[in-house]
Amino acid sequence: MVSLKGKDIISALDFTREEVEHLIRVAEQLRKEIDEKGILDYAKGKIMATVFLEPSTRTKLSFQYAMVRLGGTVIDFDVSTSSLAKGETDVDTLRIIDGYNPDVIVLRQKKPFFPREIAPIIKAPIISGGDGWNEHPTQALLDVYTIWRELGRLDDLTVGIMGDLKYGRTPSSLSYLLSKFKNITIYYIAPEPLQIREDVIKNIEGKVTYYKVNDVSQVIEKLDVLYVTRLQKERLPDPSLYEKLKGSYKIDKEFLSKFKKIPIIMHPLPRTWELDPSVDSLPQAKYFQQAQNGMYMRAALIKEVLGV
Ligand code: ASP
Ligand code: CP
Repeated sequence: MVSLKGKDIISALDFTREEVEHLIRVAEQLRKEIDEKGILDYAKGKIMATVFLEPSTRTKLSFQYAMVRLGGTVIDFDVSTSSLAKGETDVDTLRIIDGYNPDVIVLRQKKPFFPREIAPIIKAPIISGGDGWNEHPTQALLDVYTIWRELGRLDDLTVGIMGDLKYGRTPSSLSYLLSKFKNITIYYIAPEPLQIREDVIKNIEGKVTYYKVNDVSQVIEKLDVLYVTRLQKERLPDPSLYEKLKGSYKIDKEFLSKFKKIPIIMHPLPRTWELDPSVDSLPQAKYFQQAQNGMYMRAALIKEVLGV
């Protein structure tokens, strides 16, 4: 029996295959119910606090929409008017929020592994909405949900993950979740300074077949999925690196039209120059659908963590 009730959701490594499959089933069921009724009552009387200490559009809003659709209440922490400006620490801020007894806290913070550090002193279950360059576990859930919806399976997949694999947190979490499934091949496609981190490789070694390449043309026709990511400008140690690496990988419609087979194209968004809007008109472009799927998957996760 799968139960996520009361659990902290901090790393994609912590999920089992059964939990992922269960969440997909719940997301599908909630999609039907939400699309039919609009607002449900599973989370009636429950409160979710959203604490985003780094910018966000999709993660924050899709969690908030999901909670409202489940019939619950959302209290958002507003960084810009908060006492962080007076020098209060993130730890103290979270202790205060936790003291008001939310049923769940969704947290985005820029320090890698911060959710792991804070979880033991916070009573409410913590769902990480991203911790610096480290991980973005709920993004990985909606990513595999999207793959499952588009391709009908999560075993026997060849996935290309392209872009900033070093400073990005979605490539690591997606790799970890895919590593729970059978016969997975991942091509890490990036210029050398942005290649996948060794800590990620350590965690997937022996569980998936992987290759590092720098040119997407070499592998694109082998792929079921091409997952494109943005250069994480705000995380680069030296700003001059951005100018050096800007444009070093990119796809547009003209480029894709050269190939016999085009895989489905995904992107966690926001996009910058790496994914040209000309791709949007291709039937393989799935990134807007992917963002929308996030609301249903996050509703499933909230429902399971609340145990309602
Ligand atoms: N939105 C995703 C994240 O927060 C991807 C990105 O920002 O590039 O990691
Ligand atoms: N994909 C994603 O996490 O988007 P936001 O950074 O806008 O939340």
